[in-house]
Amino acid sequence: MDENINELISDLKTYLEYLKGMGIDTLPASGMKADEPGQSTMITLEEVRKELGDCKRWKLHRTRKTIVFGEGNEKATLMFIGEGPGYDEDVQGRPFVGKAGQLLTKIIQSVNLSREEVYIANIIKCRPPQNRNPELDEIQNCHPFLMKQISVIQPKIICALGTFSAQTLLKTDTKITALRGKLYDLEGIKVIPTYHPAFLLRNPERKREVWEDMKKIVELLG
Ligand code: URA
Repeated sequence: MDENINELISDLKTYLEYLKGMGIDTLPASGMKADEPGQSTMITLEEVRKELGDCKRWKLHRTRKTIVFGEGNEKATLMFIGEGPGYDEDVQGRPFVGKAGQLLTKIIQSVNLSREEVYIANIIKCRPPQNRNPELDEIQNCHPFLMKQISVIQPKIICALGTFSAQTLLKTDTKITALRGKLYDLEGIKVIPTYHPAFLLRNPERKREVWEDMKKIVELLG
């Protein structure tokens, strides 16, 4: 019995953390309407960006040049989520504009889409020094903002690029090689992990698998 209650509390905590990540930090009392006319809870990307501000909440602000919030279509049905800004992104304040970014642009175009039609963001919004891997606290700190972006855009599909993106979104430590190409659910949004373009630059023979994943995504988009 105690075990059941503990499990219930743990599930409830996870759910409340998820809602907080989506920008919902109050719940209506029973019988109240959550969304009375004129009191819409809908927010825009501009508002999320404003809330992020010139973020100095966490340690990466000390070494970054710019915040890389994300860019693209606010109404995109397909969203790409990478790891974090590198050198070029940090300088330009835009996601995926370096060598890996150029490859991502080609991947997007290979299925007759454009960068303007999709939305591109990252798990973390500030470049880690020397492009080291993002640390767990950095990922967790940025997570509420990413979840707000997702909840505004409400894409049909998220393509998670690489290990950090896939593992963070799917809350797993399973390897990307096992996750890639499969379909997962994130609160009603389909998630398809695939290899990160930077990995493809080092391992071009794996491009074929990404091509398969992109074909699957386009099929699902209809
Ligand atoms: N790699 C990423 O994961 N994101 C970028 O924006 C650039 C490179």
